[in-house]
Amino acid sequence: MKKLAVAVAGLGMIGRETVRLLRKRRAELRERLGAELTLVAVADRQVGREARALSLPGRVVRYADPVAMARSADADLFVELLGGFDAPRRFALEALGRGRSVVTANKRLLAYAWPQLARAARASGASLAFEGSVAGGIPVLRALELSFSGDRVLSLDGILNGTTNYILTRCEEGLTAAAALREAQEKGFAEKDSALDLSGRDAAQKLSVLAGLVTGGWLKPDSFPVAGIESVESRDVAYARQRLGKAVRLVARLRFAGSAAAPLVEAGVSATLVPLDHPLAAARRQYNALLVRTASAGDLMFYGQGAGAGPTASAVLADLFVTARDLLGGLPAPRPGPRPLQLAPPGSAVSGFYLRLEVIDLPGALARIAGALGREGVSIASIHQDLAAGARAVPVMITTHPAPRGRFELARRRILGLAAVSKRHCAMRILG
Ligand code: HSE
Repeated sequence: MKKLAVAVAGLGMIGRETVRLLRKRRAELRERLGAELTLVAVADRQVGREARALSLPGRVVRYADPVAMARSADADLFVELLGGFDAPRRFALEALGRGRSVVTANKRLLAYAWPQLARAARASGASLAFEGSVAGGIPVLRALELSFSGDRVLSLDGILNGTTNYILTRCEEGLTAAAALREAQEKGFAEKDSALDLSGRDAAQKLSVLAGLVTGGWLKPDSFPVAGIESVESRDVAYARQRLGKAVRLVARLRFAGSAAAPLVEAGVSATLVPLDHPLAAARRQYNALLVRTASAGDLMFYGQGAGAGPTASAVLADLFVTARDLLGGLPAPRPGPRPLQLAPPGSAVSGFYLRLEVIDLPGALARIAGALGREGVSIASIHQDLAAGARAVPVMITTHPAPRGRFELARRRILGLAAVSKRHCAMRILG
């Protein structure tokens, strides 16, 4: 029986689960693959302790330095589950440089080092698989890369961050955002630095990976508008639901135009009001969802757990299986190097908007706000003033008809400059 040797770097929550599954599913994998996937090396800062906790046999070589393992371990497949950026990048480049295939679940690595990794993989003919990097256990990357080969992907709308979805949906159930974040941290969905989740940057990195797969281009995560949920309050969630019939979700979106050779991409991440009967509104708690609109197959919805050890390790195992199968049968042609991607001007995306302001209850204040929107050609769809007896500043909730984002942003800036309006506010896109 043929053997393929596996080395795993990073024995954190996901690394440990990957090693456990690799051993637990050994017989099934062997049967389906016609070859044995054998763990030969592990790397971790606490490698002795982790190897003991996993009861790894003595023949599994232990490394404290993952890059040293990538440089010297006698493995066919190198799995990167270290977290962070520098060490994973050096690890992946070292292994790919030796012509060894790499499996990673690191979205940040893909989002920021995509061209470098693709070049290294191309040069050595090795393969790079990263199903676990976006939407955890949902097999969305392989589907986007392969399943629409004869079709055309027109747009993607996704809930790609489990932590913010957990917070927003727990707020719908009456919890405060701070308490919901603490729960998400306890459950292990949140990033070490939860600002990455809350600011939308985690979702932006994942969007960059998705755009790369669909277009073959590199969408830099800092090159498109990204706004998170920091300014969303429980009262916005309640107002959206009760008065507007909408749910608040952090939605990452891509629209593809132009030609296959010269794609034009509109990208963005923002807190978004989604109609309650929209499929994305059905994704609750830590669940992720991706709505894919295609030219021939129509609309498709992917749904599942986007974070956590089990779902991510499941995706890593799938990558190991597919890469091992390719190694045995002949690797597919490497992905072409990234091509330039043209981004649509960020202000051109058209949608309705929600704006919650804190306004001092003075004569003429609302007229000035309406005037600022009107001056930019943004038409008001609804306006609600929440009069609390005795309060100096009252919340004013406005929704607009569809308008170019750039015009809305100009109006918003002007409104926030008004003497009667506090800087504290919340702005969201409205979908549909
Ligand atoms: N912090 C991420 C999330 C983990 O909440 O979705 C998975 O990438």
